[in-house]
Amino acid sequence: MSKDDQIYKDKIKVRGKSINIWPAKTEVLEISDSPMTYLAHFDDIEKYHDKLKERILELEKEESHTHRFKIGGSKVRYVHEWGTAESKLINARATAFFCQAVGRSNAVITASWASISRKNEYLAGHSHDDCIASVVYMLEPGNGKNENGLDGKFAITDPRVPGCCNKEEGRVTMEVSPDMKPGAMIIFPSELVHHVHPYTGDEPRITLAWNFKLSEK
Ligand SMILES: [Fe+2]
Repeated sequence: MSKDDQIYKDKIKVRGKSINIWPAKTEVLEISDSPMTYLAHFDDIEKYHDKLKERILELEKEESHTHRFKIGGSKVRYVHEWGTAESKLINARATAFFCQAVGRSNAVITASWASISRKNEYLAGHSHDDCIASVVYMLEPGNGKNENGLDGKFAITDPRVPGCCNKEEGRVTMEVSPDMKPGAMIIFPSELVHHVHPYTGDEPRITLAWNFKLSEK
């Protein structure tokens, strides 16, 4: 991933405290070099998670922001319209991740939303169109029992990802499920097929997502 020193200097004020958009100590793990897939983890989540969660659950009640799917849970759209410092921060973090991954200094967000899953909800395999990279952020994994380690788990199953094809190139025989603990943010090419396993918890499971295109400038 490309690193521009400026990325470590930009800050956003959240409840009176300046928070680095991209803290210098942020861990970034390469899940796959080609196709490019990285996993970052932010460890300052106590500074913004509570308020971000509160705002999303409040917006979920407003029809103008929310679409409720039959199986896949709620989508609360447009992170940049949520109007809080916490949403501004996480939006900036996702954008910074995209910029570092593609080596550009600006980006176009073609879509962004929060996904709220409740008991027995899941997302079937899909990919995202009209964009080149997608970012998913784990805000709240919820309280699923997780006995098999798969409860509400985000996973990639795509023949272009070597980790999914452990027996024969181009044949998916397993899934790649990164460690999406709270504060984890993954970026992957939008064409990769991914899904979310059924969630069994009683508390809402909340992730955020963005689709990005390159800026023409
Ligand atoms: Fe997706």
